[in-house]
Amino acid sequence: MKELLKELREKSLAAIAGAETSEALEALRIQYLGKKGELTAVLKQMGRLSAEERPIMGQLANEVRAAVEQTLEAQKKLLTDKALEMKLAAETLDVTVPGVEPRLGRQHPMYIVLDEIKSIFIGMGFDVLDGSEVETSDYNFTKLNTDEGHPAREWSDTFYFTPDSSILLRTQTSPMQIHAMETRSLPIRIIAPGRVYRKDEVDATHSPMFHQIEGMAIDKGITMGDLKGTLNEVVKQLFGPSTVTRFRPHHFPFTEPSCEMDVQCHKCGGVGCPTCKGEGWIEILGAGMVHPKVLEGCGIDSNVYSGWAFGFGLERLALRRFNISDLRLIFENDVRFLEQF
Ligand code: DAH
Repeated sequence: MKELLKELREKSLAAIAGAETSEALEALRIQYLGKKGELTAVLKQMGRLSAEERPIMGQLANEVRAAVEQTLEAQKKLLTDKALEMKLAAETLDVTVPGVEPRLGRQHPMYIVLDEIKSIFIGMGFDVLDGSEVETSDYNFTKLNTDEGHPAREWSDTFYFTPDSSILLRTQTSPMQIHAMETRSLPIRIIAPGRVYRKDEVDATHSPMFHQIEGMAIDKGITMGDLKGTLNEVVKQLFGPSTVTRFRPHHFPFTEPSCEMDVQCHKCGGVGCPTCKGEGWIEILGAGMVHPKVLEGCGIDSNVYSGWAFGFGLERLALRRFNISDLRLIFENDVRFLEQF
């Protein structure tokens, strides 16, 4: 029996040390230590031994069991360590490899100018409104004192959606004046930037889609002096304190009196050059005192309230602000151009 146990010990320890998977280990455990295992089978023969031999063999059997258990445990640890090592090796991350540099975007030059203008007006107590690009003729024209038959309403100038000319892509941000007067309580101070559309051919100064910023202030006792003072202050903050401006009489159906505002050419200082087409001045906006008919149409008593309004061309301001020569650069979005701002 002693021989049997010795044999069992050698055989089992060798088998366990050679096991390569945890499944194989478990099978060996059952084979040697299980209820129907080989060690159990040997122990069952203990009954045949003499009373002197029995404790000696019992102790030996226990030693064999302990050795088998220990070896099983050690092999199990070896296998898990090996598995972890292999996993780590497969997942190796080389932290010294240079990363992929993210490409940082930049703000478009026109939106840089828009943000500057917004913060100037917000500083003066104006709210910034957002408007719909699809409008009705009513808001784009009629309520702005531009009746049917007016040349601005021609199909050749305007993108209409319906044969009866009632729905269109707004040709100006001025309808935002009407929306503001109809929905806000007085006094009103707003600006409303956004896209506008006209059937223009693309060239260095024209695009069928461009941006305007509408502005309007309505209160008791507002005069043309407030308009000039506000706009002069805005262009000085935008282009620098020495910016020279002038106001020329003009005509718009929805303002009376109306004017256009020019800034002295930044390139030639007013002498005349290609940038200002030899005139020394660059026109940047239309403006005027809101027509009493427009005020009354929105339910505002024109005997008590008055106001001014203006419309900037945003692309034009960006051209002047950054010394850009061609409007098309603003829309082409060539990265080499955009990266300069
Ligand atoms: N809407 C005019 C245009 O597109 C610009 C303009 C002129 C806006 C006078 C105004 C204004 O608010 O008072 O040419």
